[in-house]
Amino acid sequence: MKQVTYEGLTFEPYISRQDIAARVEELGKEIVRDCAGKTPLFVCVLNGAFPFASDLFRAVESIDAEITFIRLKSYEGTQSAGTVKEVLGMHEDIEGRTLIVVEDIVDTGNTIFRLINDLKEKNPAEIKVATLLFKPDALVRPVTPDYVGFNIPTKFIIGYGLDLNGKARNLNDIYILKED
Ligand code: IMP
Ligand code: MG
Repeated sequence: MKQVTYEGLTFEPYISRQDIAARVEELGKEIVRDCAGKTPLFVCVLNGAFPFASDLFRAVESIDAEITFIRLKSYEGTQSAGTVKEVLGMHEDIEGRTLIVVEDIVDTGNTIFRLINDLKEKNPAEIKVATLLFKPDALVRPVTPDYVGFNIPTKFIIGYGLDLNGKARNLNDIYILKED
């Protein structure tokens, strides 16, 4: 893996595609175990979570599961904007359902906190959060993800769905901003 450059910023390899794949398989097994007898509805938070949701959803093939998509946005550049705008809503009836909200990353927690509160109003049976990445030191909201791929420091990363102003989502590995 080599360094990559976007908008004049240099990023270095951080988590390989092999390590991501292995961890996603493990998370899938945890979900299969926890969801025995249930039909969870995966709620993929677009845009960033789509590669993770795709892999995680297929890692639970031994149970009945469904998937839907919601689109939210909170970031401009490499800093959290702090506000969350809902761009594309969800139309399923989720009353009484087990939801697994699938996020690429929980940073300040603003996005997932807002989303959980919105979803609660529709009376699901339970809401679980699966996030590939978690920045525990950046968290400013009372949320605890149920399934975490990797805990990471408060640094900016890209790849495997995570973007810098729309770019780099199609990188297969995860890269971290190089500081010099
Ligand atoms: P939060 O609301 O601060 O938790 O941020 C959540 C959203 O910000 C994620 O769904 C990402 O889209 C974006 N985000 C947070 N950290 C990063 C990062 O390091 N790289 C790229 N996007 C990020
Ligand atoms: Mg996102």
